[in-house]
Amino acid sequence: MKKLRLTLPLLIALAGAPAFGQTGNPSSNPPSMMREQAAREAYIDDLMRRMTVDEKIGQLRLVSLPAGAHPDRAKFAADIRAGKVGAIFNTVTPQDIRVLQDAAMQGRLKIPLFFAYDVIHGQRTIFPIGLGLASTWNMDAIRRTGRVSAIEASADGLDLTWSPMVDISRDPRWGRNSEGFGEDTTLTSRIGAELVKGYQGDDPAAPGSIMAVVKHFAAYGAVEGGRDYNTVDMSPQRLFQDYLPPYKAALDAGAAGVMIALNSLNGVPATGDKWLLQDVLRKQWGFKGITISDHGAIMEMIKHGVAADGRDAARLAISAGADMSMSDSMYGDNLKPLLESGRIAMADLDRATRDVLRVKYDLGLFRDPYRHLGPPANDPPDVNAESRLHRGAAREVARESLVLLKNQGGVLPLRKQGTIAVVGPLAKSQRDMMGNWSAAGRTEQTVSLYQGLVNAVGDRARLLYAKGANVVDDPEIVKYLNLYEEDVDVGPGTPAQLIDEAVAAARQADVVLAVVGESQGMAHEASSRTDIVIPESQVKLLHALKATGKPLVVVLMNGRPLALGWENDNADALLETWFAGTEGGNAVADVLFGDYNPSGKLPMTFPRSVGQIPIYYSHLNTGRPFDPLHPDKYTSRYFDAPNGPLFPFGYGLSYTTFALSDVDLSGPAMTRGGTVQASVTVTNTGDRDGATVVQLYIQDPVASVSRPVKELKHFQKVMLKAGESRKVAFTIDEDDLAFYNAQLHYGAEPGLFKVYVGLDSQDVKQASFTLK
Ligand code: NOJ
Repeated sequence: MKKLRLTLPLLIALAGAPAFGQTGNPSSNPPSMMREQAAREAYIDDLMRRMTVDEKIGQLRLVSLPAGAHPDRAKFAADIRAGKVGAIFNTVTPQDIRVLQDAAMQGRLKIPLFFAYDVIHGQRTIFPIGLGLASTWNMDAIRRTGRVSAIEASADGLDLTWSPMVDISRDPRWGRNSEGFGEDTTLTSRIGAELVKGYQGDDPAAPGSIMAVVKHFAAYGAVEGGRDYNTVDMSPQRLFQDYLPPYKAALDAGAAGVMIALNSLNGVPATGDKWLLQDVLRKQWGFKGITISDHGAIMEMIKHGVAADGRDAARLAISAGADMSMSDSMYGDNLKPLLESGRIAMADLDRATRDVLRVKYDLGLFRDPYRHLGPPANDPPDVNAESRLHRGAAREVARESLVLLKNQGGVLPLRKQGTIAVVGPLAKSQRDMMGNWSAAGRTEQTVSLYQGLVNAVGDRARLLYAKGANVVDDPEIVKYLNLYEEDVDVGPGTPAQLIDEAVAAARQADVVLAVVGESQGMAHEASSRTDIVIPESQVKLLHALKATGKPLVVVLMNGRPLALGWENDNADALLETWFAGTEGGNAVADVLFGDYNPSGKLPMTFPRSVGQIPIYYSHLNTGRPFDPLHPDKYTSRYFDAPNGPLFPFGYGLSYTTFALSDVDLSGPAMTRGGTVQASVTVTNTGDRDGATVVQLYIQDPVASVSRPVKELKHFQKVMLKAGESRKVAFTIDEDDLAFYNAQLHYGAEPGLFKVYVGLDSQDVKQASFTLK
């Protein structure tokens, strides 16, 4: 294995075609940028000459300091003045940030701190969680969420966000699916790049911009069994083909930093993986920014079993190329003795220190340490003031993130009249609506689903509410979920009483809206599940509601694909709303009442059951593929359930209908370096205006290695008036056909290629061409 790891980059270099384009290549930079870079290096050279070893080590220390009262605050201020802290995260108000930056300005060299935070899907205004953003398939909308997040975060004095999170995941058991953008490499790469552009704009130092740190490098989403922090073991082909490109795309878009994953990759913890952090990241990709270990990850190399003690862990991390140490004392305690004993080189410390100083320089902090803050008089008296929110943008993005999974008999949209029973433990929850990693978002400023319905109907319809069930009843699970934050509220009433109240409400109603799923804490870091069904307490409620015979609309709030077999068979309508953010309730009401026609598409396959995992659309064919039209025994299948997913990748309904023409190719062949155009005409065949996503997939049916049955390469979201038709054209180039072969050479092989175009990944039209 060791041998393979060492030879991988070599193999790729030998292949001639670089794995990816090079960033930061000086020869491709314009002269003004080169002058700027020279000025920056001269500034840093000068500073470095004046810094002591302790001060250099101090720059590598990243401290979590939650805002407000903190017992150690005075000590931290003293540490900052003494040059022992490089940056802070989790301090999120201008007032608190100013106090800490003041301390830095009292230090010997006055090196400013930078301030970071997990601004994942919003800062004060919360947008939908990652899976929701991805469901929009709308790159303009996604870039806008990045921009708004940056405007709000920088107004709070922040400089940098730990986002985007572009870990591909094909295992719904993993709680962190909620933060990412799903299973697909192309979709995730596009979204990561858009967010970076949104956060950083043209210049991360500009007013209203913050720096982006892409995470978690690498392949954290592939943890075995979906169990958080678990092992990742993966073929180099899959790593390079499917899992690494999104990180690279974010870096190409300009992301200034990389957060290193907590997991090991093929036996080596990423934090100590020189191959990953230097050979791939620096040498192949030309990355020149900062690398940051994840929370406590340097120390965790002891438990991974690759470091004997803290000193050993610090040595491994700094030599591998981990610049900053997040939330552990490993660098502070150990780098100096390691230097003195000659076990690490001064060059390693200097390299890491320079990376930190460069970030500060590029953020403009040496010019003005208070660049986002301005004078104290600028501090907002109320950081949570309504006027600081961007509710309009949040509502627009949120309603695009909702995915209509079923709508039998046109039960949706609802009319704003009659009696509607609103039932379920999530219906009135403001906290859950925000989702996890909700940054500085405020529960009380979040529109619950129930409130959204009230806002929509006014006094035109009667709303009856009953909680109906607890999110979960199992006391052990409740205890776990409530460990660090009050996540699940188990109120008064036995399960039977709660259900009786809900059934009584349903009986009086014309239609029942059941708002069920997961609490936000169930789809979070450290929230992996062995099953992916709606918790039993809520399923019992759904059964009881079904028995009333009233039309049943299931509104789902959750942060991972769920197995929804019973719900799909029994509900009249299913609407996936993820955790839709500050304006979630209004956005869901917009869709339920038809004020917005749903257009979201799934970024991740929904299995029928947990036993099908991993299930993803871009799988290989195998030698014995299952054919649903001619089901046979000795094929790749399960015998106790249908083979395919419940809902495929790219799927989502609308209140209107769309038709797609056959695929028209510009020619039968592509020459090397050339292109082929694929076009289709999409028609809105219904009587409502609506949007859909035209998706183009490619297959290389005969290659030197087995290739996926299809891979998404292009997509376009189109808005069409009722009856309107539009031609949608995509340009396919050689890169769309390329892959890593058995020797890890990257390139396209000649022969036939199939092109599939559809409005989801399963129901597609087909054409083909050859590459000469
Ligand atoms: C640990 C998480 O893995 C990472 O995503 C996050 O950015 C850091 N903690 C900081 O909160």
